[in-house]
Amino acid sequence: MWRIGDIAVDGRVALGPMSGFTFPSYRDFMKPFGVAVSFTEMTSCMGVIHDSERTASMYLDFKGNRPIGLQLFGGDPESLAEASAKALKTNPGIDFIDVNMGCPVPKVLRSRSGSALMEDPARCGEIVKAVKRRTGIPVTVKTRLGKSMESINFRDVLDNVISAGADAVTLHARTVKEGYSGTPHFDLAESLQSEIPVPLIISGNIFSLDDAVSAVRTTGAKGVMVARGGIGNPYLVTQIDTWFREGRRLPDPTVSDQIRWCRELSDAVIEEKGEEIGVRKLRSIAPKFVSGCRMCNAYRRILATEPETREDLFRILDVIEERMGSQKARVACEHRED
Ligand SMILES: Cc1cc2nc3c(=O)[nH]c(=O)nc-3n(C[C@H](O)[C@H](O)[C@H](O)COP(=O)(O)O)c2cc1C
Repeated sequence: MWRIGDIAVDGRVALGPMSGFTFPSYRDFMKPFGVAVSFTEMTSCMGVIHDSERTASMYLDFKGNRPIGLQLFGGDPESLAEASAKALKTNPGIDFIDVNMGCPVPKVLRSRSGSALMEDPARCGEIVKAVKRRTGIPVTVKTRLGKSMESINFRDVLDNVISAGADAVTLHARTVKEGYSGTPHFDLAESLQSEIPVPLIISGNIFSLDDAVSAVRTTGAKGVMVARGGIGNPYLVTQIDTWFREGRRLPDPTVSDQIRWCRELSDAVIEEKGEEIGVRKLRSIAPKFVSGCRMCNAYRRILATEPETREDLFRILDVIEERMGSQKARVACEHRED
């Protein structure tokens, strides 16, 4: 058990914020696998202030899925504070505000938000102070190592946000320049947890239990963030959670388990988004559930391109299960891109 401010977090696994993926039905699907704390997709503070309907959908539907942090991006302390207060008033179920200080997307950088904030560590501190003052709830920050390997400055950013009252920090152990590829540099954050007075959540290429154990061992982090590795491999969360609770290594699921979970998620996504949008979204998620079988590549391609309706999608899943159900899925190995 650890804490984000006064919020108890029971378990190691944080479900990482992922734009386009960590919408409510995805978060709710992942939770029972052993997620201890969740984050929303990144949400524009200007969108919150100006009442965009799309933005509101990102921080309304939490059901019982808590603790949860609303992740906001923005560049100005007062705007972020205003957006946080407004969102909290609309949804008192928000447990904490997470400020995005790591996004490398050009559109976000242009508004001096996301990882652009790393160029001004003092401003990072001002943001945390302003959001805390206005909301009174815990505030966390998600950042990267630095702009590039030549300008590693996460310690400076962390010093500023922690002095300003940040209640936990997530470090994605890559630089902005590296984006999402290459091996994360956990060595640069060796024993970081022992140097800071608030919980550290560590992020970067967590695709297998061994990845999680190694990242936690190196950094001492209280939490480990499952992001891409959990898409199509929800059982990874259970494997990590069980290891840290009981020291037990659970075997990989079968293809049949994977197909069952894929059906479950598909129905939840379709219920949330409607059949047309839901199935389109599932074309980028369902293929990731299929691995470890001889014909996997072909089936993944079919799932990514063919389904138009729930019926199409489920028919393809039925065929995969019928032909390969009892085989072991080797999801972790097949997902890794580097
Ligand atoms: C498609 C996608 C969307 C993401 N969206 C966000 C986001 O909204 N906010 C954020 O802080 N990080 C975001 N991330 C970063 C992840 O939370 C995570 O830190 C990163 O992917 C590294 O972990 P991984 O290598 O295990 O996937 C995103 C990553 C991906 C791949």
